[in-house]
Amino acid sequence: MPSGSGSPRSTGRRSHRSALFYALLLKDSGCSSNAARMAALFDTDERPVKRNFRLVDWTRLPQATLYLWENVSPGGPVFEKARRVLGLGLRRVGTGRDLIEIRCERGADISRLLGFPEETARAIRSLDEHWDGSGYPDGLRGEEIPFLARICGLAQTAEAFYSAYGPRRAEEMVEGRRGRWFSLEVSGVFLQEAREGRLWETLGGPRAGSEVSFREPPERVVIGTPERLDLVARAFARIIDAKSPCTFRHSERVAAITAAVTEYMGFPEPVVRDQTRAGLLHDIGKLGVSSRILDKPGKLTPAEFAEVRKHPALTHNVLNLVSPFRSFAATAAAHHEKLDGSGYHRGLTARELSLPARILAVADIYEALSSERPYRPPMPLERISSILRSERETRLCAESVDALLTLASEDRLELPEAV
Ligand SMILES: [Fe+2]
Ligand SMILES: [Fe+2]
Repeated sequence: MPSGSGSPRSTGRRSHRSALFYALLLKDSGCSSNAARMAALFDTDERPVKRNFRLVDWTRLPQATLYLWENVSPGGPVFEKARRVLGLGLRRVGTGRDLIEIRCERGADISRLLGFPEETARAIRSLDEHWDGSGYPDGLRGEEIPFLARICGLAQTAEAFYSAYGPRRAEEMVEGRRGRWFSLEVSGVFLQEAREGRLWETLGGPRAGSEVSFREPPERVVIGTPERLDLVARAFARIIDAKSPCTFRHSERVAAITAAVTEYMGFPEPVVRDQTRAGLLHDIGKLGVSSRILDKPGKLTPAEFAEVRKHPALTHNVLNLVSPFRSFAATAAAHHEKLDGSGYHRGLTARELSLPARILAVADIYEALSSERPYRPPMPLERISSILRSERETRLCAESVDALLTLASEDRLELPEAV
């Protein structure tokens, strides 16, 4: 596309570039929403299943069958494995479409929630469509596929091949699926850049990941205002809660409880804001734990429990990478700590736990008890009170427990519905 600075056409192209940049950054934001179903369908940790999925031409029956055989119930009895593979194979079209639709729709919603243009949402919604109509979720064909989605679809598959096998296999894959998965035009530009440009050199550089922010199209820089950062925290809370059917709106509710108690105790507004964000993001580390473990109906094995216990550390690592969120990373990561040192992940004791961290820990427990679980209804306030009081001062902060129970008994907690 020719461009002359300031012409309507170049302005259009610039807005495309910005929409594309954010579509690429957010394209996987709906991934958590099908995690529980994938773990259940494949009877295994869904994370490698998802990684491997990108490396398969699932429109080709032999490859799709082999993929299922290698990924379903790994290590399980052969009969059970065969039964599941057959079941998934028979339902392949419907199941695949559903799983991709859930993911893409959720990703598009997250981009809308963050205020990005509809063009970004449509690119995310349609990035798994194929040029020949064999893709999902809508079976769009050729020019029906939004232009930015064609670029995103090729980029995500090429990146998966590049990361797994290196540049030559990524080029071969695009060459092989040219005109089938990918448009001739986008494939042509990609292959030319890969073979003659500096694509692989840039991708292989030591700072490829950390330099992403410098690649934001300069003509439309999105500023991280406090309001936008609040939205980012809210959007990620949705992503976190979508990971498990048991935690619908858990993070939002923990945030509301934490903020109410913090305010009640007289902390100033900046602390309340940080506490809200800490509540929204405290379980972000759960995205790194298999849904198979998080949603296991029975008792966890010691190894599985050890996996679960890692999530606050992962929360800390993630939040620490984001400078505006660093101020509450330690608070968020301490939400399973107890005053007597019996909590996790660091076994901190009363002396080491700040009041904001103690409030968040109590809010997290209160929210869990007041929400429905598959094995029990929401607990009434009297029952929650007696549980919290039984650990008051020994394991839970007395001041936080008292403040929270006062607010709850006076009906002053305004929480989003748990279901
Ligand atoms: Fe947690
Ligand atoms: Fe939690």
